[in-house]
Amino acid sequence: MDLHLEADVGEGRRAGLERALRDAVRDGRLAPGERLPATRRLADELGISRNTVKAAYDQLVAEGYLTARQGAGTRVAALPPVDAGPPEAAARAREARFDLRPGSPDVGAFPAAAWLRALRRAIATAPSPAYDYGDPRGRIELRTALSGYLGRARGVIAPPERIVITSGYVQGLALLTRVLEGGVIAMEDPGLPFHREVVRRNGGAVVPVPVDERGACAEELGDCSAVVVTPAHQYPTGVTLHPERRRAIGDWARARGGLIVEDDYDGEFRYDRQPVGALQGMAPGQVVYLGTASKTLGPALRLGWMVLPPHLVDAVADAKLHSDHHTESIGQLALAELIDSHAYDRHVRACRLRYRRRRDQLLDRLGARRRVRGIAAGLHALVEVDDEAEVLARAEAEGLAVGHLGEHWHTPGGGEGRPQGLVVGYGTPRERVYPEALEVLVKVLGRA
Ligand SMILES: Cc1ncc(COP(=O)(O)O)c(C=O)c1O
Repeated sequence: MDLHLEADVGEGRRAGLERALRDAVRDGRLAPGERLPATRRLADELGISRNTVKAAYDQLVAEGYLTARQGAGTRVAALPPVDAGPPEAAARAREARFDLRPGSPDVGAFPAAAWLRALRRAIATAPSPAYDYGDPRGRIELRTALSGYLGRARGVIAPPERIVITSGYVQGLALLTRVLEGGVIAMEDPGLPFHREVVRRNGGAVVPVPVDERGACAEELGDCSAVVVTPAHQYPTGVTLHPERRRAIGDWARARGGLIVEDDYDGEFRYDRQPVGALQGMAPGQVVYLGTASKTLGPALRLGWMVLPPHLVDAVADAKLHSDHHTESIGQLALAELIDSHAYDRHVRACRLRYRRRRDQLLDRLGARRRVRGIAAGLHALVEVDDEAEVLARAEAEGLAVGHLGEHWHTPGGGEGRPQGLVVGYGTPRERVYPEALEVLVKVLGRA
């Protein structure tokens, strides 16, 4: 049996074995009904203790991946079919053998065992009111845990009473747009089209703010209610907002009474230097800070947080109440537990090493001939090309899905002199397919 065991940095033997088995069942490499080796044999083969193998098997039986019956050994359980999502997404997923689109982390690295422990503990210790309607801002346990975490990890000034827990960044953006009652919102160009659409559908008008090699051009901000920026690692170009621009954007907010919306979606992942602190720490009265667990844990959790200036707390909490009462409470308690036990920090640290290694592999494979930008941080980089359309056609022919600058402009189409590039999400593929995905990328770029 080939389990493709990949011991992760910071991951114990048992956790590594559990993950390898879980991945093998999910990928179909271990078919339903297939019998697993006896614990003693696998322990011998892997050079680990039999107790470790037994504990891993027990855990996966508890999670439903394996079944164990006296006399029949341990076998792979039949999993329910995976819902592939909307037909269009399913078709794309089928066609692309390799996925280097930006957006998701390596969800195969989700810390399932730690999350299960945190959930168990959360449920075991939750007071009964936790199962009732609660504060629209979210559970105080999580707001308190985040207050400490954001202060030490991101330099955010975040008293618990100014935090609102949301269903991801996207809900925070939607709530804020509603609170601004149809105001004009400046958004980075290039930026994520989905987020522009969220603003529009919640009654906001979107205007572009250009991005250059020093980040969003703050001096071009005119008369608008708010500006949404990604200062730590601009999406999609990857540049870090220059200190002068950080100052200029703060000056604009103070002079015009405008609001800065800081999207800190991947701020934890900085590789070459000390993390760049959040903008919010410099101007807590002008900045709405938005964070998310989508990159550190996984988008499926739908857990995000807003840190608000005092004058916006009540209005945003009211908008949240009238949207969905509050975010689901038990997941919030589990995340609070994960942070308080430092398992969250450990996981982020291990992921940072993993993604840094992947970033280095990307640079190594592309060599000096390619200009790659945005490499100091995050889970994606921008690889400059001369002709996006040509490279994309080659990528498609090779079964490689990859992002590109062209899909991020406010006004689509050419535009003379616009830079062109691939937006490569190197965090997305599962660990074992990443090298092959890189090979295909190199081949596609090499021929272009
Ligand atoms: C620029 C940007 N902001 C925020 C997010 C996180 O969004 P959410 O928390 O809604 O999953 C993402 C995720 O891909 C992103 O690319």
